[in-house]
Amino acid sequence: MGALPIPPTPPGTDLTGKTAIVTGGNAGLGLEAARQYLTLKAARVIIAVRSPAKGKEAIAELKADPTVQKLNPNAAIEAFPLDLDDFQSGVDFVRKVKSEVPELDILLNNGGTNILKYHKSASGHERVMQGLPLSARILVTRTLLIRETAVNVYTHFLISLGLLPLLISTAERRGAPTHLSFVGSSMQSSHSLTKKPLTPNGSFLEHFDDQKTYDAMTRYQDSKFMVNVLVRGLAKVVGEENPKVIVNHMCPGLVYTGFDKNLPLWLKPLMYIYRRVSARHVSEGARTLIHATAAEGSESHGKFLSNNIIRSGEVPFLDEAAGKAFTEKAWKELVAECSKFEPGLSRYA
Ligand SMILES: NC(=O)c1ccc[n+]([C@@H]2O[C@H](COP(=O)([O-])OP(=O)(O)OC[C@H]3O[C@@H](n4cnc5c(N)ncnc54)[C@H](OP(=O)(O)O)[C@@H]3O)[C@@H](O)[C@H]2O)c1
Repeated sequence: MGALPIPPTPPGTDLTGKTAIVTGGNAGLGLEAARQYLTLKAARVIIAVRSPAKGKEAIAELKADPTVQKLNPNAAIEAFPLDLDDFQSGVDFVRKVKSEVPELDILLNNGGTNILKYHKSASGHERVMQGLPLSARILVTRTLLIRETAVNVYTHFLISLGLLPLLISTAERRGAPTHLSFVGSSMQSSHSLTKKPLTPNGSFLEHFDDQKTYDAMTRYQDSKFMVNVLVRGLAKVVGEENPKVIVNHMCPGLVYTGFDKNLPLWLKPLMYIYRRVSARHVSEGARTLIHATAAEGSESHGKFLSNNIIRSGEVPFLDEAAGKAFTEKAWKELVAECSKFEPGLSRYA
């Protein structure tokens, strides 16, 4: 019930000899995407995880999967440490990938978590924005419940910039584009920037870090909006014509995963029922991630997909002068912030 069916991945989709990295790859959509990459015969799949124990468990699960065993028993499956809450962890992750991974075909920025309150990340930014938030609102018997999901924005941006040269060099070697994708959301269209604009000389980082302007009701939308901003910027940096790296973002729809694990006990049963009734199975939801990263071509560059279809005008503000000015400002500021941790990134300013 609810969501449109996502068709099976086309039979010709083949990742033989390719390497994919999935952040948040030990659970939910990320783990399933890793499994599907393996069934498409990827040579090497690296899951980025914050817990070595969970990474080990996930590797064992992937290796034991009957379809993986049947179709791709010799694939290399590894877990690299990455805490999306922390820029420094992103820097360390990029260094490890650069030294141990000679080719990178897919970087899937997927990881995230649910939080309900204003928190600061290890890097000192509001956590939902350091991560990338997802919030959903459900009116239940006059009580407003807020589900807020944090998926990393800022650290994902840092690792994307850091690994861009590797994605480009791999594309050159293959003579075909590689993919850099973010898990986004259709809810970005309800962002708060139109109603609560930045002051003319205001900092976007300060705006989103400020507890006084923090609004749990819109933070999810704002974070998904920021993914759109950054995807547009990254697409520009790569180049719009015949891009060597296809940069896009997609919405998987409502998917039945462990996403609600950090919700308060009283809210979990409600979300459980909601997902049971309305959500896609994780294997179906993950097909939208596979589509964006393995099937989509350059027509999706800088674009947003939902139900595997390229959408345009999803956030009208971004096509207006004020939105373009915001995008430019946010790009410069975030590059400068990332450069404090990895000075080489300042070349993207
Ligand atoms: N499920 C949905 O309905 C839905 C809808 C739209 C978009 N999405 C997006 O889909 C993505 C995956 O969500 P999911 O539904 O698969 O949720 P999930 O089952 O909770 O998986 C989230 C993954 O992110 C990892 N993660 C969380 N915080 C992290 C951190 N600080 N550092 C590193 N990894 C971290 C988790 O690792 P741990 O196991 O260590 O926590 C886990 O591997 C998210 O970006 C979410 O916004 C989901």
